[in-house]
Amino acid sequence: MDFLMFQLEKNSLVPIYEQLYSEIKDAIINGAIKEGEKLPSKRNLAEYLAVSQTTIEFAYSQLVAEGFISSEARKGYYVQSLEELALIEQEAPIFTQEEKITDVISIDFSPGKIDTESFPFAIWRKYAKEIVSEVNKDFLQLGHPQGDYILRQQISAYLYQSRGVKCTAEQIILGSGTEQLMPLIIRLLGQEAIYGIENPGYPLTHHLFLDDSQKSVPIPVDAEGILVSQLEETNATVMYVTPSHQFPTGAVLSATRRSQLLSWAYQQDNRYIIEDDYDSEFRYTGRPIPSLQGIDQNQRVIYLSTFSKSLMPSLRIAYAVLPKSLITLYKQKYSYYAATVPRMDQHLLAKFMEDGYFAKHLNKMRKIYKRKLEIVTKTIAKFNPIVTISGEQAGMHLLLTIQTSKSEEELVLLAKQAGIRVYGLREYVTGGLDSLTEPKIVLGFGGLEANDIQTSITTLIKAWGIAKTP
Ligand SMILES: Cc1ncc(COP(=O)(O)O)c(C=O)c1O
Repeated sequence: MDFLMFQLEKNSLVPIYEQLYSEIKDAIINGAIKEGEKLPSKRNLAEYLAVSQTTIEFAYSQLVAEGFISSEARKGYYVQSLEELALIEQEAPIFTQEEKITDVISIDFSPGKIDTESFPFAIWRKYAKEIVSEVNKDFLQLGHPQGDYILRQQISAYLYQSRGVKCTAEQIILGSGTEQLMPLIIRLLGQEAIYGIENPGYPLTHHLFLDDSQKSVPIPVDAEGILVSQLEETNATVMYVTPSHQFPTGAVLSATRRSQLLSWAYQQDNRYIIEDDYDSEFRYTGRPIPSLQGIDQNQRVIYLSTFSKSLMPSLRIAYAVLPKSLITLYKQKYSYYAATVPRMDQHLLAKFMEDGYFAKHLNKMRKIYKRKLEIVTKTIAKFNPIVTISGEQAGMHLLLTIQTSKSEEELVLLAKQAGIRVYGLREYVTGGLDSLTEPKIVLGFGGLEANDIQTSITTLIKAWGIAKTP
């Protein structure tokens, strides 16, 4: 069985039988096994390779089906003549590193995860059934380029009531995610715009400008949000901010800084603020903070939000509210772009909102996330002062500050080795930050089940080896 001196990779994504099939096929094609040669019996080969006979059976059957070998009753498997085979030159599939599952993650503290236990599947299904119907055959055609009016109208009513955003449906543009709307806004604002971006901040904003450092200026963030005084020292013309719950530190932009930021925008005609209000639906302490858009007197705020947190990230529906001057420009320049959100999804969501289910869902989820947050804070409190929390007023993630001699990277790695995914704050930093000293970890709790939170956090602390765990 010399020709079978190959390695089968048991951890590969390619099933063993497929690896075996490919190896034997290659050996036949390159002549290592000659026409007429007998292959080992299934039992012998299974023993030799320490795999099951069924695996060998699968591989041999595939080779028989493709005519590389023949099966002769009670005799065995024989290599066929290659000339009779029409060999199709095929590129072998290449499994890139990304496609291989290299790490087994059993606890995921990713800030992008939501609760999946409480989604109103029955209602959603009911609307889906109603929408996908011959009655709505018009939905097979393209709709309004900004998104259909019915959903934009629902969004504008919702925004006014819940966030104090003042806009008409005409000012709203739907898009398949903040990720898709940001580049559109950047194109709209033109070549001359220079962007202030939060540091640390939403990686998307860092990536958008990675190739073009001329166009972005990182603005540091402290416990009150971005340092507007530092923004004032730069040549930035557009500031991207997450004022309700800074991503990823969780800081809430203070009232003083809000008015300072608006004043900055009013100083020159070409200045704008991009307000990303991505998880503002979930605020747990104090009164809801109105949006910057709602208090802006001069049409300088571009408001962005998403259904990724309030409903599900996979829905891919976000929206931008443009100031009136920019919506006119948008219509002139870009109204030939078709809406990027499937029309049936738009109508489903519009009905869901119109009938009050969205508001109900938000109320329910606010309680669920609040409860999860309470468990997180209670559990972490046991490890105070080694581990402390900040940024917990809103949203589905908070920040841990850890007193340890270990580095942030070490903590992330130790967690990973224990099957736990966490993110170091430095992963969200661009170009360095003077003020970062002790390790800080971004901890998302939305996707964890309430019953698992305590154990998950204790497991994490144990993996870090920084405090005594119960
Ligand atoms: C700051 C920020 N904005 C927006 C989003 C949502 O992006 P999208 O609408 O593309 O899902 C996220 C998701 O985590 C976020 O962290």
